[in-house]
Amino acid sequence: MSQFQSIDVADYYDKDTFDRIEAFAKDKPTPFVVIDTQIVAKQYDDMVNNFPFANIYYAVKANPAKEILTLLRDKGSNFDIASIYELEMVTSIGVSADRISYGNTIKKRVDVRSFFEQGVRMFASDSEADLRMIAEEAPGSKVYLRILTEGTHTADWPLSRKFGCQNEMAYDLLVLAKELGLQPHGISFHVGSQQRDIGAWDSAIGKVKSIYDRLKEEHGIVLKMINLGGGFPANYMDKTNELGVYAQQIKHFLEEDFGDELPEIILEPGRSLLSNAGVLVSEVVLISRKSNTALERWVFTDVGKFSGLIETMDEAIKFPIYTERKGELDKCVIAGPTCDSADIMYEHYSYGLPVDLAIGDRMYWLTAGAYTTTYSAVCFNGFPPLKDYYL
Ligand SMILES: Cc1ncc(COP(=O)(O)O)c(C=O)c1O
Repeated sequence: MSQFQSIDVADYYDKDTFDRIEAFAKDKPTPFVVIDTQIVAKQYDDMVNNFPFANIYYAVKANPAKEILTLLRDKGSNFDIASIYELEMVTSIGVSADRISYGNTIKKRVDVRSFFEQGVRMFASDSEADLRMIAEEAPGSKVYLRILTEGTHTADWPLSRKFGCQNEMAYDLLVLAKELGLQPHGISFHVGSQQRDIGAWDSAIGKVKSIYDRLKEEHGIVLKMINLGGGFPANYMDKTNELGVYAQQIKHFLEEDFGDELPEIILEPGRSLLSNAGVLVSEVVLISRKSNTALERWVFTDVGKFSGLIETMDEAIKFPIYTERKGELDKCVIAGPTCDSADIMYEHYSYGLPVDLAIGDRMYWLTAGAYTTTYSAVCFNGFPPLKDYYL
């Protein structure tokens, strides 16, 4: 048996969908990403059905295209916003301020003011300076404190270390929030994107519960919300549990700690709503070897780390790559088109591509609907940003 994992498109898309994407992509110059909005709609519905007790705040950073934002607006989603630029994208399509949360813990004073002036009343924080600034620029608003979580090693794209504070500090800051005239509203965390260990939510919810209890007992502060963040799975090379298993387990963790007195639950999915809906199409530019006797091929393609595939950094996200060739698979290094030696997507992971792969062939990067268009550089080596199409 081959040591390389062959890609069966049927594991990722139903036949009609992929045929439709392939036909649409056929004559378009590469690289580009095609997103099937019907899949986004289905992923959103699945999220709602699996978590009927939760309110969804779509993490706009995953893909802020107007087609996606309007679809989710019409489905009733709320929005987790990271900057005034995302705020503009969302308000320009008529989303009201009460459906927006400013979820970035790193923000400028002038931006907080702008959010407040536009009616936003819900802010994340994880530091005293930020909290005091919110109190001054957005008086009386709801604040939720982001805590640090474990699970860094089991998430493909960890997030927690940069954001959040320890429990004790979150507790103190929620007390301070009240003193500053803000509404201590709740607690948030993010267990890391593409989190494979569902238990990561268990320990985080346990921490939240202890802060809830102590605030109530010691200060009479009753928090009203838990923001469980993102981290829900997309379908890459390594399989994960289905969303339903995540939902069942997380519900159980919440019930264990909160019983019937469940506060408002917020989810901020990004990857899990968008990834499965997108296929990135690139073309093989060059296939070469580094010596006359080298066994390993280098496959250079016209998309790379600087045109949407930054999540291949440290080979963190392993996109399934499909080509129309049927030859036996053989090990290769897969690299991008720029004159930067960091622009190598996969060198250590055993990616096999067909031995008969040829220059000019197309490569289909499956599960590429999230965090690709937005991460693309604007002009590195003169290459334009990754193009996107919405079906
Ligand atoms: C605050 C916040 N919420 C939600 C998300 C979305 O997470 P995911 O893409 O894992 O669903 C992110 C991702 O960076 C985030 O920073």
